[in-house]
Amino acid sequence: MKVIGLIASPRGEKSNTLRLVDAVLAGVNDEGGKTELVDIYSRDIKYCTGCLTCYATGDCPLIDDFPDIFDRMAYADGIVFGAPNYINSVPAPMKALFDRLSDAIHCQTLTGKFGCSVCTAGGSGESEVIGYMNNVLATLGVTVVGGVGTAVGRDASALGKAEEDSRELGKRLARSIRGEIAYPEQDEAHRQRREYFGQMIKNHRESFAHQYDWYVGMGWLKEEEE
Ligand SMILES: Cc1cc2nc3c(=O)[nH]c(=O)nc-3n(C[C@H](O)[C@H](O)[C@H](O)COP(=O)(O)O)c2cc1C
Repeated sequence: MKVIGLIASPRGEKSNTLRLVDAVLAGVNDEGGKTELVDIYSRDIKYCTGCLTCYATGDCPLIDDFPDIFDRMAYADGIVFGAPNYINSVPAPMKALFDRLSDAIHCQTLTGKFGCSVCTAGGSGESEVIGYMNNVLATLGVTVVGGVGTAVGRDASALGKAEEDSRELGKRLARSIRGEIAYPEQDEAHRQRREYFGQMIKNHRESFAHQYDWYVGMGWLKEEEE
C-alpha cells in the first residue's frame, strides 16, 4: 500500500499544515503502508493555458514537473492533500496543480483510489478549504475518507489535537484502501460521474478524441454508441 501526501505551504519545515500531513502519513505507516511526501512549492507547476491539447491527445505541451507529480499520484493507492487556508481557498501552486488535472477528471483516471485532506487556518475557514480539496478528490473519482482542520490562532493547543486526529485519519485511509470500510454512496456517485463525463465526451468525440478512446477502452462507453 502506497500513499502520497501533497503539501502546499511556502513555509517549509515551519509549516503548521505539514505537521498534519506528516501525522496522516504516520497513521498510514502505523497500518503498514508506505508513504511519500511531495512539496508542491519546491516543484515547477505551470499554469494551464486552456489549449485543450490534453483532451485531444492525452499529452500536455507544457514542460515542467506536472507529469512526474501525476505519475506519483497515479501509482499511489491513497492521496492526501494538505494546504493552509489562503483567502478561503488553497495557495496558488495547489490550484495550479488542480487546474492541470482536468484531463484526469474527464477520464476519471484516479478511480479506485482513496483520499483525504488537511488544512490549517489562522482564524477560520479550514472546513471550507477541506471541503474544497475533498471535492477535487471526489471529482477525480477518488473516494474521500475524511478531513482534519484547525485554526491555529484560535486555540494554542489546537494543532496538537489536530495532529492526533490526523494520525487517526491516516489509519482510516489505510483501512479504507484495504477494503475494510465501505462507501456505497460514493461508489454510486463515481458511477454517475463516469456516466456524465462519458456522455459529454461522446458529444465532443472529435475534439476530445483521446478521452473518447479511453472511455471505449475502459468499457465505459460501448462500441455501438460510436
Ligand atoms: C497569504 C495568506 C493568506 C491567508 N488567508 C487566511 C484566511 O483567509 N483565513 C485564515 O483564517 N487564515 C489565513 N491565513 C493564515 C494561514 O492559513 C495560517 O497561518 C496557516 O496555519 C498557515 O499554514 P502553514 O504554516 O502550513 O503555511 C493566511 C495566511 C497567508 C500567508
